[in-house]
Amino acid sequence: MSMVNQIKQAFEKHFSPAPIMVKSPGRVNLIGEHTDYNNGFVLPSAIDKYVYFAVKPNGLDEYRFLAYDLNSRFSTSSRRIEPCDKPWANYLLGVIAQMAGHGKNIPGFDCVFGGNIPMGAGLSSSAAIECGLAYALNHLYNFGYSQLELALLSQKAEHEYAGVQCGIMDQFAVLFSRSDHVIKLDCQSLDHEHYKLDMSHLSIVLVNTGVKHSLASSEYNRRRMECQKGVDILKRESDGIRSLRDVSMDLIVKNRHKFDETILKRCTYVLEENERVIAACDCLANGDFNAFGQLMYQSHYGLRDKYQVSCAELDRLVELTEPMDGVLGARMMGGGFGGCTINLVENNHLDNFKQLITNEYKTPDSSNPEIYTCTLGGGTRLA
Ligand code: GLA
Repeated sequence: MSMVNQIKQAFEKHFSPAPIMVKSPGRVNLIGEHTDYNNGFVLPSAIDKYVYFAVKPNGLDEYRFLAYDLNSRFSTSSRRIEPCDKPWANYLLGVIAQMAGHGKNIPGFDCVFGGNIPMGAGLSSSAAIECGLAYALNHLYNFGYSQLELALLSQKAEHEYAGVQCGIMDQFAVLFSRSDHVIKLDCQSLDHEHYKLDMSHLSIVLVNTGVKHSLASSEYNRRRMECQKGVDILKRESDGIRSLRDVSMDLIVKNRHKFDETILKRCTYVLEENERVIAACDCLANGDFNAFGQLMYQSHYGLRDKYQVSCAELDRLVELTEPMDGVLGARMMGGGFGGCTINLVENNHLDNFKQLITNEYKTPDSSNPEIYTCTLGGGTRLA
């Protein structure tokens, strides 16, 4: 039975017939990591892995949730919304709290959700969950939120209920993606452009280190602060600086004696990564995937050496691809400290790639790594 039908059936078994069904995708990011909260550029897309939602009003003063994959339930009074000790429920409560904060009346409802986005793999299952519920409630109760408003409120839900001061990339990608396209998003203006990716001879392949990124939220928030420190130093030296987006490499070089080494590394990485995203989009426009792949490697080395959000397993997976035929690019993806690498592989080398990776890499619990080939899909929608 398809996943969407499993979720619907579970809903009807536990609650009542005929819920609305929504599917909300995970995302990849081809290049532009840790740039979003620095008002820079990113190049993500949704993929063909989803969290499915079944939702229906229940006529009660209660929100009742079932996390299908975890077989875990949670319910709470609709009169009082606050964070709870079930991590998965906080993503959902965070969305409700945002809408309630806008003065929306959200009558009680039942919700079952589950799907096939691996958790803790850096594919943003959290944004898929937030945006999926936000989309479903907007549809069900005719709140009239725009897609952009849904993305922004889902991001705030993550800040306030999951404690991660994330940028806008994930929620934007989850809601705005189109099949076969990546989005070049300017995280300062939120201007965006869809680039069609001709993938007839190439595949996007994810390799899961099997390391759950548990350090991610504390180190993530620390990186944000380190970048802000850099901005604060440069603000004193030049007018009109609000973020690293307003900073040139010249300005950093001129003031380098005012930075400690760590802050200097973080800031130069961000400026270089923004340049790489712009260069990568030029490569897409010219169909030059070889040069695009080289930029992916450069991105990884920057994340490893200057931004220091990689880990031994991610580095190993990238290193293994360096001598391989048919691998155009590879890098760690997402927040870091575990999760997946993203690889651009020529289709006629795909089997070889999988074989070599499986021979050479074992996860920390000594099993073969999970390898997913994904296609670029559309954003959150009715299923
Ligand atoms: C996480 C965050 C995003 C982004 C990436 C790193 O996925 O949710 O906002 O900062 O890390 O690029």
